[in-house]
Amino acid sequence: MWVIGTCVLALAIAWLGHWVYRWRNPKCNGVLPPGSLGLPLIGETLQLMLPGDSLDLVPFLKDRIQRYGTTFRTSVAGRAIIVSADPKFCHFVLQQHGKLFESWALDTFAKLFAQEGKASLNVTNVHKYIRGTVLKHFGVEALKERLLPLMEEVSQATITSWLGKESIDVKYATGTMAIEFSAKLLFSHDPTQSSKKLGDLFSSFVQGLLSIPLNIPGTIYHKCLKDRRKALSIIRRTVKDRLSSHGRLHDDFLCHVMQDMSKEEFLTEDFLVQLIFGLLFVTFDSVSTTLTLALMFLKENPRALQEINDEHESIIKQREISKSPITWKEYKSMPFTLQVIHESLRLGNISPGLFRRTKTDVEWNGYTIPAHWGVLIATSALHLNPETYKDPLTFNPWRWKEYDSDVMLKNFMPFGSGMKQCAGAEYTRALLSMFLHILVTKYRWTNVKKGNIRRNPILSLGDGLHIKIMDRSRNLFSPFGVISTLSVIKGSYSTPSPYKKKTSPIIRIEI
Ligand code: HEM
Repeated sequence: MWVIGTCVLALAIAWLGHWVYRWRNPKCNGVLPPGSLGLPLIGETLQLMLPGDSLDLVPFLKDRIQRYGTTFRTSVAGRAIIVSADPKFCHFVLQQHGKLFESWALDTFAKLFAQEGKASLNVTNVHKYIRGTVLKHFGVEALKERLLPLMEEVSQATITSWLGKESIDVKYATGTMAIEFSAKLLFSHDPTQSSKKLGDLFSSFVQGLLSIPLNIPGTIYHKCLKDRRKALSIIRRTVKDRLSSHGRLHDDFLCHVMQDMSKEEFLTEDFLVQLIFGLLFVTFDSVSTTLTLALMFLKENPRALQEINDEHESIIKQREISKSPITWKEYKSMPFTLQVIHESLRLGNISPGLFRRTKTDVEWNGYTIPAHWGVLIATSALHLNPETYKDPLTFNPWRWKEYDSDVMLKNFMPFGSGMKQCAGAEYTRALLSMFLHILVTKYRWTNVKKGNIRRNPILSLGDGLHIKIMDRSRNLFSPFGVISTLSVIKGSYSTPSPYKKKTSPIIRIEI
């Protein structure tokens, strides 16, 4: 009996040994990039989750780039992945999208977007439709024709509603502004009609994405899933109402997509709900984080604050009627503002990276990446590469004057690149610019509280950035006013707000 037992044990040990060997040395028709797949099953997931406490790269990336170079292999959540921070390779991967590479999202993240096991937004075969529709509603033409002044108006209303408050949590407040503005455009959402604020629900959802995926009551992840369901049900209610009334009386994104339902089979009720949810998600987190960082950097850099202020003052001065709404031409004449936005995006690295998967074996620089392996384009490492960006951790908006389009194409991709480049990029830049335009020309702010930066790998700001807003015209004559007398002497002080004071941040949009 013991002989059989010993044989079974020996076989089990041999099988396990072989399995571990196979795990560590996966099949490859060539040479794999350097690196390690870590422990069986969990790979190097735990190391990846080690947070950073500055704007710098997370320890996982920093250590491995130092040890193996800019392209290395690893394994996360049981998946073999090639991570790259090589500008040429990253550019190559993005340009080859659809040919050698395809979309891919890590499972835990994808599940949150997937509905009942169906494919997530990023991996559906309806990419072209989504891209085209989003560009139609949020792209350059829509901005030119109607969105720009609305953005100016919502920024004005939002900041006015902050006046008199002792402390404003910038990320939460700008996230709420961005999400309610987008929700209005997407499905004519009226925040006064919901007991739950979309801003609160998405804030909890984002926190859950950064937490350990443990779905038991009391955990952040559990609350995240619960609030995700609540946000989905707010959207679903509207979609259902519209479907039963055939979408009459509305002229928004949802209405236009519904008109295509008879032509496109994939446009089901579920699809519409998921699509709107996905678009609200990107709006909430990315826009608010970038704005929070921009405000933080500007406050820490008086010279940059003065320059952005001068840029916007000069736009107003050149107008025939100073109170006229912003024009496309004016928006396109804000080079320094764009530099501030670029620099905030570069240092913020909101998206941890771009995920792709090889469709076939791919040869690169003497290495082979086997078919169906994941590829993570570590945009954060590209953006903090000291060979491209001198003193990469310093906020230096002036650096952008030096870069030509080729440098930017391969080394700066906060919005991705190639076929899947962000369809909301111009919308984001415009919203940020309009907000900054209103803020610097009409208000002053002081920091009340600032949390510590943490990367997990997504950037967060601990307790957040809290500010107090003051109306510039009032502060000019206040004994405690912070407006610099210098700017008045220099003539950079603008006329008082051309907008009526609004008491609530609710958006008025007439479409
Ligand atoms: C700071 C703000 C934002 C950042 C940093 C950002 C970043 C990105 C990135 C990196 C991608 C490419 C993903 C990939 O290649 O796999 C992407 C795609 C996309 N983004 Fe954004 N995004 C932002 C805001 C927005 C907004 C406000 C919208 C909607 C109005 C939006 C809509 C989209 C869409 C539809 C795609 C998919 C494009 C495609 O697959 O063709 N994004 N975004």
